[in-house]
Amino acid sequence: MPTAIYPGTFDPVTNGHLDIIQRATSIFDTVVVAVAEDSGKDTLFSLEERLEILREVTSSLKGVYVESFSGLLIKYVKKKGADAIVRGLRAVSDFEYEMQMAMMNKKMAEDIETVFFFTSTEYSFLSSSVVKQVASLGGCVKGLVPSYVEKKLKEKYNFLK
Ligand code: COA
Repeated sequence: MPTAIYPGTFDPVTNGHLDIIQRATSIFDTVVVAVAEDSGKDTLFSLEERLEILREVTSSLKGVYVESFSGLLIKYVKKKGADAIVRGLRAVSDFEYEMQMAMMNKKMAEDIETVFFFTSTEYSFLSSSVVKQVASLGGCVKGLVPSYVEKKLKEKYNFLK
């Protein structure tokens, strides 16, 4: 029963992330989407909000669970008894950073593999930051994020105004 951990900040989750989650479920029985409590980024959505949004948009996906973690990712992966870490690659520019992370994690836990999925081309330009920037300036993010996220972004930016 292979289990994978898909870690990230998810501020907010996009259709690009969902694409990776869905494809990971075709290989792993269980995919735990692990939201970093502190990834070093200033987040728009609180940890609780990011968890709630992820749970809502993945509720129909079998074998997908959403949790938070703090501290070293590899310690959390070990504690969960998971077999692999899942990451998405959008472009060559992601490669160096991802390779460094994968190798460092491998150094700390040799039995845990990092498995990469190429992000579908239609989402290869996407990031949570670009979505937030467009939404904050009143641009349309339809098709880039689930409609629930679109609604949450609107609420957040109206509230902040
Ligand atoms: N679709 C859309 N966007 C995607 C994407 C996809 N398929 N794949 C990546 N992205 C985006 C993300 O939204 C994020 O955008 P942002 O920078 O605007 O927030 C960016 O690409 C990826 O950011 P990155 O910093 O690579 O990852 P992350 O913030 O999602 O998560 C952690 C990083 C949490 C996994 C990492 O910091 C970590 O493991 N922290 C724990 C501490 C630790 O163990 N450190 C040692 C590691 S060796």
